[in-house]
Amino acid sequence: MSTAELQKTIDTMIVRGKGILAADESKPTAGKRLESVGMENTDENRRAYRDVFFSTPGIEEFISGVILFEETLQHKSSDGTLFPELLAKKGIVPGIKVDKGIIPLVNADGDKITQGLDGLAERLQGYKEYGARFTKWRAVLPITDVNPGCMGMFTNAEVLARYAAIAQDNGFVPIVEPELLIDGTHTIERSEAATEATLYEVFAAIRRHGVSLEHMILKPSMVISGKECAQQATAEDVAARTVKVLLRTVPAAVPSINFLSGGQDELQATQHLNLMNRSTQTLPWHVSFSYARALQGSALKIWAGKSENLSAAQENFYKRAKLNALASCGEYDQSMEK
Ligand code: 13P
Repeated sequence: MSTAELQKTIDTMIVRGKGILAADESKPTAGKRLESVGMENTDENRRAYRDVFFSTPGIEEFISGVILFEETLQHKSSDGTLFPELLAKKGIVPGIKVDKGIIPLVNADGDKITQGLDGLAERLQGYKEYGARFTKWRAVLPITDVNPGCMGMFTNAEVLARYAAIAQDNGFVPIVEPELLIDGTHTIERSEAATEATLYEVFAAIRRHGVSLEHMILKPSMVISGKECAQQATAEDVAARTVKVLLRTVPAAVPSINFLSGGQDELQATQHLNLMNRSTQTLPWHVSFSYARALQGSALKIWAGKSENLSAAQENFYKRAKLNALASCGEYDQSMEK
């Protein structure tokens, strides 16, 4: 493992007032997003969708890394520049989602497991030629009365740590993403318990596998009420419980925590991040965002595939990136939404 190579990536990515854009929706997920605005899921539409965001003037002020999906590494902007090159020219580090999606975990009722470890090292060498310098792997853990179970938590932690070790061994900074789903009727108390137990397992596995804590990024979900829970916690409660769980489980040696938005609306995702960064407790890590929907959702609706809407969509994306960047410093205020 070349520590210098990993450190260089970390230093470029982890900058005060900047976060990460997750633009790594798989083909079917990108298709769902496009279909929501009446667009077909074609190669060209997915390329044009990425171009809206990557070509937005000035995003490098707030975004230091972009997670790409495999096909996007080879797609080009309208001016003919390969996307990873376009990003690198702006000083943004291109990264790559390397997992191959979720399947049921056998004999673990309702729990899931992520595939993609076989051949990972070989694939990484190919991605490096396209300029990718960091990776992402997403584990999905549903919350119910029985999920995630012990085996679900243990197995997902083990696979996340195996992935992170392979990524670092090949010179890539791994984003480790254990996502506890917001879907369901669970309370915030249940979310807190499940998140703490999961992160505890994740860091135990990270240590077992010798992953360098200093050269990884944690991408967790927030501790939050289930979408269908009758009792929705306040933004202050979400921030306080999330900070509490992270302080109990995430070593201070980890340089950065970049949250996923996970189905929160744009405003909530920004508010929660801001409140965490205003916490009276000292946070030993950089605490920022790695959002997909909470950065791109409104811009996609405005654009809807029409060139006459492009600049309005890009303005919206620029604004969301800026407000989340301010939230990552605890300097956001809702009055800035106007
Ligand atoms: P959301 O912010 O839309 O949850 O996406 C983040 C992500 O990368 C999920 O894997």
